[in-house]
Amino acid sequence: MNIRTHRIAAIPGDGIGVEVVVAGLEVLEALADREGTFRFDVEHFDWSTDRYKRTGAFMPADGAERLRAFDAILFGAVGAPDVPDHLTLWGLRLAICQPLDQYANVRPTRVLPGIQSPLRHVGAGELDWVIVRENSEGEYAGQGGRSHPGLPLEVATDVAIFTRAGVERIMRFAFKLAQSRPRKLLTVVTKSNAQRHGMVLWDEIAGEVAADFPDVTWDKMLVDAMTVRMTLKPQTLDTIVATNLHADILSDLAAALAGSIGIAPTANLNPDGDAPSMFEPIHGSAFDITGKGIANPVATFWTAAMMLEHLGEREAAMRLMEAIERVTADPALHTPDLGGRATTREVTDAMLRAIRGRNL
Ligand code: IPM
Ligand code: MG
Repeated sequence: MNIRTHRIAAIPGDGIGVEVVVAGLEVLEALADREGTFRFDVEHFDWSTDRYKRTGAFMPADGAERLRAFDAILFGAVGAPDVPDHLTLWGLRLAICQPLDQYANVRPTRVLPGIQSPLRHVGAGELDWVIVRENSEGEYAGQGGRSHPGLPLEVATDVAIFTRAGVERIMRFAFKLAQSRPRKLLTVVTKSNAQRHGMVLWDEIAGEVAADFPDVTWDKMLVDAMTVRMTLKPQTLDTIVATNLHADILSDLAAALAGSIGIAPTANLNPDGDAPSMFEPIHGSAFDITGKGIANPVATFWTAAMMLEHLGEREAAMRLMEAIERVTADPALHTPDLGGRATTREVTDAMLRAIRGRNL
């Protein structure tokens, strides 16, 4: 039989990123063993804040180029208490996402079995959203600067950039994704009352693209009102598309409403496939719990499922998701972020048992 090989670049990064990526790879290996139809060829990269402190750079100058040789990237987290966050973000994560044109950031949110939403009356499966975050421009375009440092007339600007090409491609992606989901429902989030140029362009392009998706029901929300709707009427939402910054904020709210940021996965997709996509848990490096062995690995397992799906291993992705749901259903396997006492090791072992077990 022909065994498919997937080349994976693993970049654990900082803090608990290291702990959860190790757990994720263990689970992926077990899954590959069980399926027997594919294998992983994993290369580890030490690109991180430690490397920055040693060498002055988070990754080599040709880092993003080197990643092109891989089928996918599994990323942990980047960020450390003693290095300014904007250096880590621009030195590693955006330094990968932007050159590899991973313009669609996809963030599914669902209340998994056994997990309690902080919202009264919201049970498992009742909150089921996918947030599509524009991942290449907007407020993260990097345009701006500072003049007259330290003087009373010091000025600082961050310019949000919205291009027709950039907005149109994310809008198409979001409509297509909404169309592929049972409810075929899309909410376009902007702030086009106050931001009267870029956000109005978003609204216009949404209307244009919608014409190509007559079977998708869509509506518009201002981002502030969206926080209220997410909290009070979560059942009315399905697929959501928003700018880089708005979706960054909304996705944290979504993760909290689904029970914990320790569960939330994300995919930085290059939908055109001309460069590899990158998969990461949303939670970040969490230095307050680093080294304690209590990081929730579930976000990375779900992230791994998204990666499998992207690699064309749909069945394995579904099996992995099933194993995750079995594990979250047991409160004895909840880590402290979920109010439990389980360790990363215990949750990972339970996953391995579920995957190796007969009845999955
Ligand atoms: C996220 C994170 C990052 C972001 C941080 C770590 C810079 O919050 O992935 O949502 O703002 O993009
Ligand atoms: Mg965020």
